[in-house]
Amino acid sequence: MIRSQVMGVGSALPRRVLTNAELALMVDTSDEWIVQRTGIKQRHIASEDETTASLGEAAARAALAHAGLSPDDIDLIILATSTPNNTFPATSVEIQQRLGMRHGYAFDLQAVCSGFVYAVSVADLHIRGGMAKRVLVIGAETFSRILDWSDRTTCVLFGDGAGAIVLEAAETEGTTADRGILASALRSDGTHKDKLFVDGGPSTTGTVGHLRMEGREVFKHAVGMITDVVTATLSAGGVSVDDLDWFVPHQANLRIIDASAKKMGIAPSKVVATVSDHGNTSAASVPLALSVAVADGRIRKGDLVLIEAMGGGFTWGAVLLRW
Ligand code: ACO
Repeated sequence: MIRSQVMGVGSALPRRVLTNAELALMVDTSDEWIVQRTGIKQRHIASEDETTASLGEAAARAALAHAGLSPDDIDLIILATSTPNNTFPATSVEIQQRLGMRHGYAFDLQAVCSGFVYAVSVADLHIRGGMAKRVLVIGAETFSRILDWSDRTTCVLFGDGAGAIVLEAAETEGTTADRGILASALRSDGTHKDKLFVDGGPSTTGTVGHLRMEGREVFKHAVGMITDVVTATLSAGGVSVDDLDWFVPHQANLRIIDASAKKMGIAPSKVVATVSDHGNTSAASVPLALSVAVADGRIRKGDLVLIEAMGGGFTWGAVLLRW
């Protein structure tokens, strides 16, 4: 059985760090409020010369180096982002050009915070369908560019960054002991589209717009939706929650992460949380967290890892993989 195996992981963060204390000088908020409600202590913010494409390129290069591969080895680039450099062409194509690749194909995928989980499952289908042997899956965002910096209810929550993995086709036994992606589940429900959105776009206002969110409403739905899709993915993969070595959730809010893990019976010691350092980096949050946990030696080859995300749309999903 062909499975998509992780060959490398990498990440990139903007140089500038913005602390809660600095934010408290910009809007009516405090370090105490932000930490208590979200767990966020700081986030990275892109400078003028840093873009979704440049951060995505840096994360891609780091993942390729970690895999011991070069851009020549890649057949497909999927970039998950809601903050592309331009409306078109796709930012993934710009990353392809920056990497010096003139072969293969590249496209962007937009599922807001669930983008990376969606992109991994789509990459898996391209690999198992025989379209591509090696895929670079990137999550890169510059949410700082679509934030309303006078709105304290949203501007304290988000940050910029990028993460990437390289997936490669491998022949396996077809059991849960295989390395690679074992199961995925994706969901969306557009009836919630007005709870978390950007109030601009090419076909409506002709502007880029700003992020708007009914935070309490998102929070209300998050834990139930995450639990549902994780349970479905574990069941499709033929494993139980106790088999998991690592739970790597979307990094939006520590309270959502803790509540979801608790509801599913996942021990806190198995939860990878980086939201305190990065804030919510949308599609970049899961690969950034994976990158941190691999670099510090927590996630090792052969570990059973569950990634999940939930975000605007709403969209949500999960992928079960053996690292
Ligand atoms: N500083 C200080 N006070 C604030 C701030 C702030 N930054 N923001 C809001 N407040 C105030 C509110 O005005 C409100 O005051 P009031 O009671 O006088 O009206 C009070 O704090 C409580 O506000 P709530 O919105 O009820 O606070 P809550 O505990 O729900 O926390 C938060 C807000 C952090 C946004 C939370 O609801 C949340 O995390 N929601 C989920 C967001 C999320 O996960 N998004 C994920 C998807 S992201 C994506 O897809 C792009």
